[in-house]
Amino acid sequence: MNLELSGKTAIVSAGSKGLGKAIALGLAAEGARVAICSRSPDNLSQAAQEIQTKTGTDVLAIPVDVVKPDAITNFVDLVVQRLGKIDILVNNAGGPPMGAFADFEDEDWEGAFNLTFMSVVRFVRAVLPHMPTTGGGRIINVTSTSVKQPLEGLLLSNSIRPAVIGLAKSLANEFAPKNILVNNICPGSIFTDRIKDNVAAQKRSTGQTEESIMAAYEAKIPLGRLGQPAELADLAVFLASPRAAYITGATIQVDGGLIRYIM
Ligand SMILES: NC(=O)c1ccc[n+]([C@@H]2O[C@H](COP(=O)([O-])OP(=O)(O)OC[C@H]3O[C@@H](n4cnc5c(N)ncnc54)[C@H](OP(=O)(O)O)[C@@H]3O)[C@@H](O)[C@H]2O)c1
Repeated sequence: MNLELSGKTAIVSAGSKGLGKAIALGLAAEGARVAICSRSPDNLSQAAQEIQTKTGTDVLAIPVDVVKPDAITNFVDLVVQRLGKIDILVNNAGGPPMGAFADFEDEDWEGAFNLTFMSVVRFVRAVLPHMPTTGGGRIINVTSTSVKQPLEGLLLSNSIRPAVIGLAKSLANEFAPKNILVNNICPGSIFTDRIKDNVAAQKRSTGQTEESIMAAYEAKIPLGRLGQPAELADLAVFLASPRAAYITGATIQVDGGLIRYIM
């Protein structure tokens, strides 16, 4: 299938590692011009170099902390200066910290809201004036299966990520006349540094071996293994493409069957 992404331009936030990097790589491999951001200049230059080497496409990589409103607007302005327009926005960010109710003060809730929800609001607001209304704009939010089934020990994610889905569904309706499509992708357990960090934290707190912690992850997944970042990126690239012209307001999990409910 020709995804017809050649000549399209894309922003992938938090695009220096894991799922964001895989999505940026997937878009670049299909011919899109890609801009990525994250906080660490080192992570960014490594990611840009890797994408460039694998695809032969230059990547614009700019340090941005997505909790900082001005950093988002400055980044979007720079992307528009360099690339001229933005067809595709992939909203991704680091995950909020793990913990139970008693672990969090107001500032933790506000921090998670800023990181997970307001970063999406601010990116959409900044990008919208630069998204062509005739060419089929795309907004894709990377969230979590926590929006469909709360995850143990992830109270902040369970509480705040569903707001992103509510926003996306509202925007899908509001932006449909402009032919801007808005969808969400929910990773289950995809093998990235985030999973490695979670496994290391569990190892420290429980004394279990990495093998037994990984085996417990895998036992919950009908396909019997964790996903690879490229397996999630493939869906994002498809949703970003003109071939997904009749899909909007959808929330799709990439989880090897982890979520057990019917719809
Ligand atoms: N992997 C999974 O199985 C899974 C499952 C459910 C949900 N998710 C969610 O999917 C998202 C991506 O996960 P991942 O597995 O790809 O994580 P990851 O491998 O840890 O990568 C996180 C990325 O986010 C960037 N980042 C973190 N905080 C940022 C900030 N404030 N501003 C800008 N960039 C920031 C990091 O770069 P810098 O450090 O350079 O900023 C890095 O590029 C997260 O929200 C995660 O919670 C993942």
